[in-house]
Amino acid sequence: SLVPETKEINGILLTKTIYNDWDKIWNFQAKPDDLLIATYAKSGTTWTQEIVDMIQNDGNVKKCQRANTFDRQPFIEWIMPPPFISGFDLAINMPSPRTLKTHLPVQLVPPSFWKQNSKIIYMARNAKDCLVSYYHFSRMNKFVPEPGTFEEYIDTFLNGRVLWGSWFDHVKGWWEAKDKHQILYLFYEDMKENPKREIQKILKFIEKDISEEILNKIIHHTSFDIMKDNPMANYTSMPISIMDHSISPFMRKGMTGDWKNHFTVAQNEKFDEYYKKKMAGTTLTFRTEI
Ligand code: A3P
Repeated sequence: SLVPETKEINGILLTKTIYNDWDKIWNFQAKPDDLLIATYAKSGTTWTQEIVDMIQNDGNVKKCQRANTFDRQPFIEWIMPPPFISGFDLAINMPSPRTLKTHLPVQLVPPSFWKQNSKIIYMARNAKDCLVSYYHFSRMNKFVPEPGTFEEYIDTFLNGRVLWGSWFDHVKGWWEAKDKHQILYLFYEDMKENPKREIQKILKFIEKDISEEILNKIIHHTSFDIMKDNPMANYTSMPISIMDHSISPFMRKGMTGDWKNHFTVAQNEKFDEYYKKKMAGTTLTFRTEI
């Protein structure tokens, strides 16, 4: 099978499309009215994009307009005929205000975003559900290194030997940055529990007003069951050579607590011990026991 090429930049494992273009990406020119959606992989990126997209379109379900990556191949490339335009080139040609997305850890975000004081929405998900989601995604996505067994993958994940680096460093790094910059830090578990409340946080953050009716429409359209059947959101238009949904669908379960169906008692104890060490001294807490 295909072995994706990966390489470290400053200790963070990245895919070829990123490290080949790293100088360009690092020098990406952000604008003050850019909105950046930042996440660790498998933490609700697509969900956040869909919500933001619907807000920006006043609840109108239009075409696939979701945020562009500036740092790798955007989703839209795979459903458009070649020649491919890089995410970077698409991003620099987007009309403003732009909505962009990234999985980069905070220290690898192009410095222009800080200089321009662009707004950033960060979505975080508890480590155990994120790990489970990432494990299944690594099985179905041929551009992500193969995960091995679940047992093996727990170690790989804990050691941060996955694309985009350690979950621990990612969520903590962004958490620390949120007090110095315009960052709205959201949690997958909160969005799942009360999408209305969380979407209202986004509205306030981006200074946008919408009617109750549109808000309800957005909640409905961005629910898991609707997004799972939405070909513009569920990645089913990706070629099977990239994503094989028969192995595991991209829109897999969309729930909190699925880790309980995966971890053995021993694996859970080992995980908790490591977690305690890595999260010592941070005020950041997650709701993992839901
Ligand atoms: P699971 O694998 O646990 O189902 P990302 O977009 O960052 O890659 O994250 C993908 C994860 O978010 C998957 O988790 C996916 O099912 C979940 N997801 C996508 N849309 C969702 C929605 N509307 N509600 C809840 N979860 C959603």
